[in-house]
Amino acid sequence: MAIIGTDVRQAAELLRSGQVVGIPTETVYGLAANALDEQAVTKIFAVKNRPAFDPLICHVDSIGKVKTFVLDFPEEAEILARNFWPGPLTMLFPKKAIIPDITTSGLATVAFRIPRHPLTLSLLSQLSFPLAAPSANPFGYVSPTSAAHVAAQLGEKIDYILDGGDCQVGIESTIIGFENSRPVVYRLGGMPLELLQELFGTIDLSLNKSSNPLAPGQLKSHYAPSKKVIVGDIAAILAENPYKKAGIISFKENYQPGNDSSIVLSSAGDLQEAAKNLFKALRTLDSHAIEVIYTEKFPEIGLGKAINDRLQRSSTHHE
Ligand code: TXA
Ligand code: MG
Repeated sequence: MAIIGTDVRQAAELLRSGQVVGIPTETVYGLAANALDEQAVTKIFAVKNRPAFDPLICHVDSIGKVKTFVLDFPEEAEILARNFWPGPLTMLFPKKAIIPDITTSGLATVAFRIPRHPLTLSLLSQLSFPLAAPSANPFGYVSPTSAAHVAAQLGEKIDYILDGGDCQVGIESTIIGFENSRPVVYRLGGMPLELLQELFGTIDLSLNKSSNPLAPGQLKSHYAPSKKVIVGDIAAILAENPYKKAGIISFKENYQPGNDSSIVLSSAGDLQEAAKNLFKALRTLDSHAIEVIYTEKFPEIGLGKAINDRLQRSSTHHE
């Protein structure tokens, strides 16, 4: 069983010896290994049961390091990096040959981000290589936002989980690529679109609903608990179906006070707080004796867009 601790040096040692380690970030926990070491990266795919066509994100602690691994770092990326790194933003660049094909699933581009978490930044500063790290969950399941979440599912398969507490953002990074010198969003995430629009005006989205070979994280069914999730008007659904053993995930309003399977993500109506609590709520309800999870559509502003994206993908799991 994995040791859960805060020993950055021990984590660094394991990573230098080609092992896989759970690491905290501000978005979700990652399952990290040396991005330049094919064998280490192979272990990530095995531990997660992840298909080889789904490329990994590389993590470093400085813009200068990113530049040593990519063929081109466009001006738009400079602007984004200066404004939002460290933070929940991933950017795609044409890769140098030193990044192995397995890390990028054969793509000519590599994803990089600088995560905003003090323990992991300290860890990265002690390493001479980037850390490839997908979210630390079995492929297709809800991402982990605490060390305990990682241990619950992958603890038998890894030796160490660096414990950085609960993730502050709670939803995966926004992924941006560059097409004709314009940023294009491939995955909605912890960096709200509005912040990008402030810098660049309109921003193009390329979020295929079913399967996007450029960003498999956009697979139609992803981020899914094992219980069926239904998104809709909770009050109306409950009125129609009052006897069903249901869990509820709502934004501000508690639709069934006193029912411990009725979880409110932010009674103050704060979308950041809601995003932070979302995946934990899905995991909690997945462990309750209920048949279905009802949830509602969130306001389509700020992090609400990414929350709706994740809920929609988790709801298509059983279709
Ligand atoms: O917040 C996050 O991004 C977290 C933390 C750990 O950093 N990581 C994460 O990784 O969510 P993962 O593996 O669950 O999702 C990474 C997604 C892939 O599914 C893929 O869609 C996209 O990143 N990706 C990675 N490299 C890519 C590339 N070269 N081109 C297009 N998409 C890429
Ligand atoms: Mg993931």
